[in-house]
Amino acid sequence: MRVLTGLQPSGDLHIGNYFGAIKPMIEAQNENEMFIFIANYHAMTSSQEGKNLRTNTLKAAAAFLSLGINPQKSIFWLQSDVKEVVELYWILSQFTPMGLLERAHSYKDKIAKGLNASHGLFSYPVLMAADILLFDSQIVPVGKDQIQHVEIARDIALKVNNTWGEIFTLPQAKINEEVAVVVGTDGAKMSKSYKNTIDIFADEKTLKKQISTITTDSTPLEEPKNWQNCKIFSLAKLFLNSEEQEELKKRYEKGAEGYGHFKIFLNEIINAYFKEAKEKYENFLANPQELEFYLEQGANKARKIAKEKMQKIYEKIGL
Ligand code: ADP
Ligand code: TRP
Repeated sequence: MRVLTGLQPSGDLHIGNYFGAIKPMIEAQNENEMFIFIANYHAMTSSQEGKNLRTNTLKAAAAFLSLGINPQKSIFWLQSDVKEVVELYWILSQFTPMGLLERAHSYKDKIAKGLNASHGLFSYPVLMAADILLFDSQIVPVGKDQIQHVEIARDIALKVNNTWGEIFTLPQAKINEEVAVVVGTDGAKMSKSYKNTIDIFADEKTLKKQISTITTDSTPLEEPKNWQNCKIFSLAKLFLNSEEQEELKKRYEKGAEGYGHFKIFLNEIINAYFKEAKEKYENFLANPQELEFYLEQGANKARKIAKEKMQKIYEKIGL
């Protein structure tokens, strides 16, 4: 299957992102033809501060590569390195009814949150359709909020195919139903908008601070504790095999340890789990040449496919 996904370079990644989206994507590399890019054009709709966008883009690329996107297995690039996508966006705009975009929830939500109602924000789904259709993507893994955008891409593809014949593959959105929602430090869904995250690449001090804010009940230190509804336990569980989970349950049931001890334990296992990725991440940022090499290699592969597709489209549209 040809699987494509775009990732917004939007700040620090948290362990909810990791277990909910990144880990499944890394595992999927073994069975699929994966196309993964950093959606820096899309990020322009929420901020026009060039310096921030550049830093965030490189950080995101470093993060995904160090967490396990393998440039030998997947095609990984920066959206803005394959300009054909913007050209296709304009062509697709001719096939996009206003009403289709006017119905987009994401646009309405962003306006309600105070973003400027720019044409860029309004036409965001058309650029996303270009990302998807340029590469004949079959499966598009996305978060729930993006399903409608994949449906818009499908609608646009249908409209083009009706006019030109079967030129585009019809994409299908995929959300990872098996992965459970990761809870944040306050018990709600972990999300950067709730400021309840534990970040993957946090420095030691920040990680400790984030873990210290996990709320617990007030069972005294010496008494047995309930792991079933303890947020520290639900988070720790993500990093432990079943044997290790049983051991931790026993420590809860035994008493004699307080939540502070379990927080220290959680800190240790998170550190150990991401140790290697953190080292790679720091290394990529300190030596951007290696990072740039992978991005260029990815862009070259993506561009070749994009150019071939565009040739067919030029013939149809008369360019
Ligand atoms: P945030 O809510 O922090 O803004 P995003 O909406 O950018 O996160 O999510 C990016 C991806 O990570 C999506 O695919 C989403 O489903 C996944 N994800 C985010 N938070 C969680 C969570 N708490 N549990 C599981 N998956 C999550
Ligand atoms: N809009 C997506 C998001 O905010 C990112 C994205 C851009 C994307 N282009 C895409 C996702 C193409 C899937 C396919 O998460």
